[in-house]
Amino acid sequence: MKITAFSEGCGAVVTDLQLANLTNDALVELRGVFAEYGLLFFRNQDLTPDQHLEFAERFGRIVINKFFKTTTEFPQIAEVRKEKTQQTNIGGGWHTDHSYDAIPAMGSILVARTLPKTGGDTQFANLAAAYDALPKNLKKRIENLRAVHSNTHLYGENGLYRLTDLSEQLGGVDRVGDATHPVVIIHPESGRKVLYVNPGHTIQFEGWDFTESRALLDELYEHVIQPQFTCSFNWLPGSVTFWDNRCTWHQANNDYQGQARLMHRITLAGSALTAA
Ligand code: SIN
Repeated sequence: MKITAFSEGCGAVVTDLQLANLTNDALVELRGVFAEYGLLFFRNQDLTPDQHLEFAERFGRIVINKFFKTTTEFPQIAEVRKEKTQQTNIGGGWHTDHSYDAIPAMGSILVARTLPKTGGDTQFANLAAAYDALPKNLKKRIENLRAVHSNTHLYGENGLYRLTDLSEQLGGVDRVGDATHPVVIIHPESGRKVLYVNPGHTIQFEGWDFTESRALLDELYEHVIQPQFTCSFNWLPGSVTFWDNRCTWHQANNDYQGQARLMHRITLAGSALTAA
């Protein structure tokens, strides 16, 4: 297995490895690489849905998304689908998966199935690097804070996604909910401090009002999306991406109107988050 940094501050490309034929030794090595980078890119994988599932099950326990449709054959595989007639895409704004759960997802494994001719890249951000580079006074302001994460504003009855042409694809209107988490966590594998708030799901700081929260959240978000902490991955047939939801954000570009895009996503369960 060969590991090459993808960009200065974000992700790594893994080559000389087929996820469908991983030896136990390679799996152990891959766990270490995943803990170090939190964002791995693979090319030319040719992974069938059952091989996708098998790899995910070898890595961890699967947690099923409450809102997305799944493949007919495998309820563990969520479809991230945009038909060519649809305007709105899933995950088009910065977020991290399942931060609204009391025990948020550890990771997500995304496999390209149908790609537009151009566009549809996924952008990522490294929240451990972003935390490290925060000015001292900002680190001080957020230490010991907790934040509320929710999905109601997206998937609830009048949620943003329900008002778009994606609504037909979504279930789970009665399964919305909130959770609170520390704003700075210790990553359970790398031991690094990580900024754990995200634009998609973080509503406000616990005990603060909405406006006051908004101002500080926007300041943090502006810091994170700087080029030194972010990167953009261009999908090709056979591409697979595996990210750690505890230390990354992602968003899918919606720049391919009139074309279809279908990705298969499996999400792996995490553990309760620990404050730094
Ligand atoms: C997601 O938000 O999980 C989907 C990302 C993508 O479709 O690129």
